[in-house]
Amino acid sequence: MTQIIAVSNQKGGVGKTTTAVNLSASVAVAGYRSLLIDLDPQRNASTSLSIKNTRNNIYSALTDKIPVREVIHETSIRNLAIIPSIEDLAALEFEISHASMREQYLKNCLAGSIDDFEFVFIDCPPSFSVLSLNAWVCANYVLIPLQCEYYALEGLVSLLNNVLRIKRTFNKGFEVSGIILTMYDKRSSLSQQIEADARKNLGGKVFRTVIPRNIKIAEAPSHGKPVLLYDIRCPGTLAYLDLAAEFLKKHEKGGRDHV
Ligand SMILES: Nc1ncnc2c1ncn2[C@@H]1O[C@H](COP(=O)(O)OP(=O)(O)OP(=O)(O)O)[C@@H](O)[C@H]1O
Ligand SMILES: [Mg+2]
Repeated sequence: MTQIIAVSNQKGGVGKTTTAVNLSASVAVAGYRSLLIDLDPQRNASTSLSIKNTRNNIYSALTDKIPVREVIHETSIRNLAIIPSIEDLAALEFEISHASMREQYLKNCLAGSIDDFEFVFIDCPPSFSVLSLNAWVCANYVLIPLQCEYYALEGLVSLLNNVLRIKRTFNKGFEVSGIILTMYDKRSSLSQQIEADARKNLGGKVFRTVIPRNIKIAEAPSHGKPVLLYDIRCPGTLAYLDLAAEFLKKHEKGGRDHV
């Protein structure tokens, strides 16, 4: 069965897109058919995978102009496909703000068209908008990147409260997949402090793997590649491959032999 994971945090610049792109790529190279949906009008995930502006995008699918199957693009990574975004997606917020069931658009749009995929990752925009709400209503899990900085944990409390609200209202089965510490600097006492606090307060919800601050991770999008195609041996690549293995173990109840 397809598992849908919303990569989400209302804070900006915490590593959502970086994690959505590199985790989906790492899961795909591990042999799992994966789909990345760029649900952010900034379209950073789309450019990170060299997808130019195209009519065949998530906005066209959500507004019923083009069938979902036609907006799915294969990428240069085997097993990884993407539904790209477009700047116009920002307008959807206004266009559907008074529509009934406005939180169900993405779920209804994808229904029946993504069954071939084992994992679907949704790169959410910052802020808790109608777009993020749509991602949370259609997802099985939320995966939360947490940047190792001072205010990180404060925002997390309200985020986790929102998860509970969605569980109580629109999506009973909605769960936290995990919290992933990003841009970790092992020499910084602040990073260590955030990690210690997160593990103490959130326990098993925090992935054992941490993503280090690594220049190759930041450079890879300008080459239109996930970091594993840019530098296979750098610490960033190794960390995302480790994260994929840990993620798959969690989501596949023990993982597969080839992981
Ligand atoms: N581990 C890392 N090491 C170095 N740079 C990183 C790392 N993770 C992310 N970055 C850089 O930090 C910036 C923000 O990352 P990213 O775009 O993934 O965040 P985001 O949460 O998706 O942002 P937004 O809220 O705007 O969508 C980017 O320039 C990215 O290249
Ligand atoms: Mg982003």
